[in-house]
Amino acid sequence: MQATGPTAASTRQPTMLPSGGQRARGGPAQTSGPRLMQAPASCGRSCPLASSHVGYFQSRRKVQVAAFQDPEEEGLMAAPSDAQEARIVVITSGKGGVGKTTTSANLGMSIARLGYKVCLIDADIGLRNLDLLLGLENRILYTAIDILDGECRLDQALIRDKRWKNLSLLSMSRNRQRYNITRAHMVQLCEAIIALGYQFIILDCPAGIDVGFINAISPAKEAVIVTTPEITSIRDADRVAGLLEANGIYNVKLLVNRVRSEMIQKNDMMSVKDVQEMLGIPLLGAIPEDPQVIISTNRGEPLVLQKKMPDSGVALEAAAQRLIGKLDYFVDLNNPHKGLFQKIGEMFNN
Ligand SMILES: Nc1ncnc2c1ncn2[C@@H]1O[C@H](COP(=O)(O)OP(=O)(O)OP(=O)(O)O)[C@@H](O)[C@H]1O
Ligand SMILES: [Mg+2]
Repeated sequence: MQATGPTAASTRQPTMLPSGGQRARGGPAQTSGPRLMQAPASCGRSCPLASSHVGYFQSRRKVQVAAFQDPEEEGLMAAPSDAQEARIVVITSGKGGVGKTTTSANLGMSIARLGYKVCLIDADIGLRNLDLLLGLENRILYTAIDILDGECRLDQALIRDKRWKNLSLLSMSRNRQRYNITRAHMVQLCEAIIALGYQFIILDCPAGIDVGFINAISPAKEAVIVTTPEITSIRDADRVAGLLEANGIYNVKLLVNRVRSEMIQKNDMMSVKDVQEMLGIPLLGAIPEDPQVIISTNRGEPLVLQKKMPDSGVALEAAAQRLIGKLDYFVDLNNPHKGLFQKIGEMFNN
């Protein structure tokens, strides 16, 4: 979907990425698709850890898709016509603890810095923590459940970031607050947010594939699947990819988190290319393992806002730019800053 906004003129699909919806569906892996980042060691060949799994994942997906279809609720998946200009992206993974919230906070902040009006929704009912990553935990007075209860208006529950006022956060619930949220509620909330002029809604999905997941993906038109280069996480990512497809979300991209170059070099970890080929999903980016992520979480200061941006921040910023179609290359995980600076230099020289 085309994004609108100050940079809309440049929101073409990145040239190096297969466009959304071109995910291999049970077919061969997309070996000639995206130019993958210069991960060392196993880039030119498949890691032995990966080779035995490639066909397995992509052939299983067809079965999952067929098993999950729920025609009764199909109507809820369609976004309203007046919402077509806005992008609603769900950040999901299946497996817990792989980096969905870290990704949501930093993609949201980056896209806001690029001039878009962004709303982050913490769709994790009862276990919210997106507010902590953004340093907004003390400002939440109302949640989406209060809106649905008629206790407050939507604009009262939207917490504006002080640093970037075009970024807002909506939490679904306070801790232990219980409510029977439905898919229809989620769709209505997103419609109302878009009616306030928001151009991007980023939904931070809870772990798992139960009702919380289904609610979070219901209003989404596109998805970012976060995985780590571990077989358990990859399998869950594959399952989620099938469920997304079954629910009409075909524009799906992959973010590989916690990548460790030194382990890839020793063939102890699958490379980004291995993971991407196993899943057959267009790559949005890869984020290195970085202790700065924990520091940033504890401080409530997103990585992409830090003056001396850490490697993980550079990689997340690049992923955000690629999501809005402003970047057509992948950063070198061994030297993320170099890639960005070289590109900026080229822009001035041309
Ligand atoms: N690239 C990284 N390097 C180091 N630590 C990371 C990285 N990404 C995430 N983490 C850490 O992993 C933990 C889980 O991250 P996060 O909360 O973003 O995952 P999640 O998928 O949202 O988890 P949940 O499924 O519980 O919602 C956090 O402690 C975070 O600091
Ligand atoms: Mg989370």
